[in-house]
Amino acid sequence: MIQILLHILLLFRLPLLGSSFSAVVSSAGRRTEPSSSYIKSSAGIDRRSPIRLNYQVGEGRNLLVEDAPSFCNEFTSPLDCGLQHIETSLLPSSATSDNSVYVMPLVISPKNYTKNFCLRGFIKNNRDWIDQQVSEYGAVLFRGFDINSAAEVEQEVKALEPDLSNDYRGTSPRNAVDGSTYVFSAAEVPSHYPIAQHLEMSFLPAPPRRLFFSALQAPKTKGGETALSDFRKVYRDIPEDLREKLARKKLRYTRTHYRKGANPLFTNDISSLESWQDVFRTSDKSKVEEIAAKENFPVRWEGRKKDVFVSEYQSEPFQLHPVTKEPVWFNHAQVFHWTTYPAELWNSYKRIRDIRLLLQSARAWVMAFATYVISRRKMALTVTFGDGEPFSMKEMGSIRKTIHRHMTFNRWQKGDLLEIDNFAISHGREPTYDKGRKIVVAWSSALNKSNDPVYGLSP
Ligand SMILES: [Fe+2]
Repeated sequence: MIQILLHILLLFRLPLLGSSFSAVVSSAGRRTEPSSSYIKSSAGIDRRSPIRLNYQVGEGRNLLVEDAPSFCNEFTSPLDCGLQHIETSLLPSSATSDNSVYVMPLVISPKNYTKNFCLRGFIKNNRDWIDQQVSEYGAVLFRGFDINSAAEVEQEVKALEPDLSNDYRGTSPRNAVDGSTYVFSAAEVPSHYPIAQHLEMSFLPAPPRRLFFSALQAPKTKGGETALSDFRKVYRDIPEDLREKLARKKLRYTRTHYRKGANPLFTNDISSLESWQDVFRTSDKSKVEEIAAKENFPVRWEGRKKDVFVSEYQSEPFQLHPVTKEPVWFNHAQVFHWTTYPAELWNSYKRIRDIRLLLQSARAWVMAFATYVISRRKMALTVTFGDGEPFSMKEMGSIRKTIHRHMTFNRWQKGDLLEIDNFAISHGREPTYDKGRKIVVAWSSALNKSNDPVYGLSP
């Protein structure tokens, strides 16, 4: 908070230094070319960091050869769309200030950005290889392919993962996109609202295994990345005393949804915008109870008219990855903390230096303090330790810091398709004032969390 006030004071001194405050504001809105530091943190394919494809299969198919023909188009048989026709690279981590460490996602592009590359043919021929890369890197990004509509996204995603779902018990308001069954708007909240890093629906007993995002329209100005963070590394790097405390006390989630029409009109808590009718797509309370029982979480009805949905339960803070058995930081603790919204605005301001984010952050800190500290209101979804103890500011700060250390910022390009292992890699949205950004999402069927003991195993 003190840091923010200092920044505001410094910015208002700019006219004295020969610059103009209003010029800073107006140029921030017009700027389409990122500053140099921004280029480093949001680079697309970086050709300085090629990685070697180490996967080869027998019988000559999919064999990686250096001098393979670099064509694969509509006249080529899908069988010809093999590993020899693509090139790969990695995006940089934010762990180092010079962005010199390249971690994930694995970016897969047609060689020489060949037009009309048969992506579906490539996926069909190489699904095992793609799965292997998703397991190893946590996420793969298909870039430079011809994807233009939600219907096309759905076809490509179905090729990657035939077992899709359109049941959504998450907390971001989202709508199905016309012309598709499994493709939804990523979040129906204003694009300048940051969405903190999370594994999709990790607070439920059975979150989706895989997630898919695609850019039907990339943001033209700063921000708007769907940033990723490696939650395997977050588990490893979280302070030892906090990790031990979480393992001992577990977590408690309390989820509250009002009936349709009773949601607050103005709030910074996006979860509170969803009514229980939105979440369960029914107005029948007994059906809600039926779904909840099937999906294994408790329900009680509160309020004078017994029309407020409340679900309260304990949850493991960590999970073992279902395939690799690596320990993973597996919770929404920081997402549903009252400090996170203003803190994420502040983090975004520090990264892209858009003055509007700084002002938004300052306002959000004041509002959050008034709402959740002075008025003692609760967020729609609150997380505490299992015994009800709230997270301290220090604990929350160290969680956010560790998550940010393992983030990577994907600057969207139109037609990008991102596949994420939802049991390893988190995602979130960086705020942007671009109005045209259009990102869609699809997800696979759910997988039950194992809840096996994690703490004590070597990270
Ligand atoms: Fe999400």
